[in-house]
Amino acid sequence: NVLILDFGSQYTQLIARRVRELNIYSEIKPYNKLPEDLSDYKAVILSGSPSSVRSEQAPHPDLSEIKGKKPLLGICYGAQYLSHFHGGNVAPSATREYGRANLSYVKQNEDFLSGIGEGSQVWMSHSDTIKELPEGAVCLASTHDVENAAYKIEGETTYGIQFHPEVYHTTDGKKLLENFLVNIAGLEQDWTPDAFVETTVEELQKEIGDEKVILGLSGGVDSSVAAMLLHKAIGDHLYCIFVNNGLLRKNEFESVLDQYKHMGLNVKGVDASARFLDALKGESDPEGKRKIIGRVFIEVFDDESHKVENAKWLAQGTIYPDRIESVSASGGPSAVIKSHHNVGGLPDYMKLKVVEPLKMLFKDEVRRVGASMDMPAEILGRHPFPGPGLGIRILGDITAEKVAILQEVDAIFIDGLKKWGLYDKVWQAGAMLLPVDSVGVMGDERTYEKCVALRAVESTDGMTADWVNLPYEFLQKTSNDIINKVKGVNRVVYDISSKPPATIEWE
Ligand code: XMP
Repeated sequence: NVLILDFGSQYTQLIARRVRELNIYSEIKPYNKLPEDLSDYKAVILSGSPSSVRSEQAPHPDLSEIKGKKPLLGICYGAQYLSHFHGGNVAPSATREYGRANLSYVKQNEDFLSGIGEGSQVWMSHSDTIKELPEGAVCLASTHDVENAAYKIEGETTYGIQFHPEVYHTTDGKKLLENFLVNIAGLEQDWTPDAFVETTVEELQKEIGDEKVILGLSGGVDSSVAAMLLHKAIGDHLYCIFVNNGLLRKNEFESVLDQYKHMGLNVKGVDASARFLDALKGESDPEGKRKIIGRVFIEVFDDESHKVENAKWLAQGTIYPDRIESVSASGGPSAVIKSHHNVGGLPDYMKLKVVEPLKMLFKDEVRRVGASMDMPAEILGRHPFPGPGLGIRILGDITAEKVAILQEVDAIFIDGLKKWGLYDKVWQAGAMLLPVDSVGVMGDERTYEKCVALRAVESTDGMTADWVNLPYEFLQKTSNDIINKVKGVNRVVYDISSKPPATIEWE
């Protein structure tokens, strides 16, 4: 197990992911919440930070139980920290050092740098520089502008690097982390999806025994993989509930329910479309719609769960990024996404114990775990879809007729993406029904009908996104199909806004 102490760098999660890509388990903790019991951690990594070690407010935790006692790697701020507070000197750089650099000097015969040669590309992002190394340190590598790009402290397994091994542009970054974690810290590379499934299933069995568990399936990756793990552990003592809120994609309720049954899940489909549409009548405010959909979901879910006699547990598909305590004041990226997320705020009054089998996994790991349990690629590769569904893609008030129109439009777009081999290149896609009627002409008739906007974005976590440069031929064909096949639509536009400043959804 590797401890990553977070000093607030935007790259901290990337460090954890890189470590896990090496099949080594890692956990992130805020620098000011150092675990009391460090015995489980075989190595510690200090992240970067937006702060400067020279400022009064510089994060300055007591590492006396770590430094010199466990393998320790400081990255960027972490390296500066280990210098500045241990007899070295950190000063503002003469030139700002951002972006690409190449190693111009690499000390030979160092385990830490094994397989990394002069010329290797590294990525810098700092405005302070280490002028003098800490006591007992030797320089291991330099770049043209940064003399002390890497160092070690003699007699300890303490290392510092000024560049970021976790980012993609540092070509040998993963190798360097492997050198540190495997060669120097002696960690085993045994954190694999199969091993995760095996140990998690055992733990779930131990924790839950023969009690009953309820889980809300959404059709998304997280809840589906969580369900599969629990199914492996406790079989039909897992009661899955899949609610149709009437705002899903065309035929999605039936087809996903079918897939779940094929996977052997004990699942009940509940069609509550009418209840949702009824409650939404006349509401056109986006947050108002979200609140109604959330409230009705809880009512429906609660009704259904009461039918499962003597249930003791509520399972949720919460994943690691939803839980990482962030150092930044904003509460961290994923906290924001999750605030309007699916089953997250389910009723306290249900008085169930909560079980979250994916709570230590990143999204890509969830997919790998799903694949190792032979779950259908169609479920694992599915685009994210908001909990309120088409409800926030119909701008203005929602009617059954508008839902039907948008379902048709969306189906043509999404099927087209699949047919053209574009679906997996896009992070999320969908169509918005705009509250705009515009003039058109069909045959000799003048029309006055609806306009739809298509949106397809690239992203990694939904926090930032850019529109996808879909081929014109595809857009042309899709637009034609939509206008010819969907009654009530006479105009199609493609959204070319990035996030920020726009958002992915229009509401
Ligand atoms: P925005 O529109 O904020 O979307 O750029 C970012 C990601 O969050 C999804 N999203 C939601 N998911 N309930 C959800 O479960 C919501 O109310 C909601 N609003 C946005 C959106 O689809 C995108 O993936």
